[in-house]
Amino acid sequence: MELIQLTSDYEMKPFDCGDAALNGFLRDEAKPFLESRLARTYLLCDEDLIVGYYCLLNDKVAKRDVANSDWRRIKKLFPHSKHFGSYPAVKIGRFAISLQYRDCGMGSKLMDIIKRRLKQDIGDSQFRFLTVDAYLEAVPFYEKNGFKKLTPTQEQGNTQAMYFDIQSVVEP
Ligand SMILES: CC(C)(COP(=O)(O)OP(=O)(O)OC[C@H]1O[C@@H](n2cnc3c(N)ncnc32)[C@H](O)[C@@H]1OP(=O)(O)O)[C@@H](O)C(=O)NCCC(=O)NCCS
Repeated sequence: MELIQLTSDYEMKPFDCGDAALNGFLRDEAKPFLESRLARTYLLCDEDLIVGYYCLLNDKVAKRDVANSDWRRIKKLFPHSKHFGSYPAVKIGRFAISLQYRDCGMGSKLMDIIKRRLKQDIGDSQFRFLTVDAYLEAVPFYEKNGFKKLTPTQEQGNTQAMYFDIQSVVEP
């Protein structure tokens, strides 16, 4: 399997993760998002098949969006620093695994790839957290992969803001 960074000339292959919005994003929006500098998409491919994909964009974890108790937990990660009103982050804008490859650890494997690549620090900028607005059904998947809830679960809405501390990734 190989990880491919989406480019404007990539010939898109069929992809079905069972969620129309996530299928539609890859088909119709991933390239325009790239060209508008809104998000960059990566594809996990098995020869001609797209096994899964994700896209990344910049984000922040801000005090005003987080419950007080959670903000205290975040501040404790910077014991010797001046504290800020927000900390830089990278957001997983979309994340999906094809129905054909589900429930055999592929999602967790792709998540490990994201974390390792981000921890390698190959960019020119810095950030501390990985964030996601998780579908409520997918919250257990993110918790299993080390994400914590950023806000108390809302009774309304269908997503849950979550974060992962990229500093906690152990490099091989
Ligand atoms: C969520 C998703 C990426 C997980 O991929 P996966 O390859 O099945 O993940 P893994 O095999 O590594 O882990 C599966 C675990 O996630 C849990 N899980 C959480 N939410 C799930 C969901 N919506 N669908 C399937 N499994 C889910 C399963 O219970 C399973 O836990 P277990 O290993 O303890 O049994 C995949 O189900 C998917 O693409 N779903 C549709 C799109 C989606 O919800 N994306 C997330 C957007 S925020």
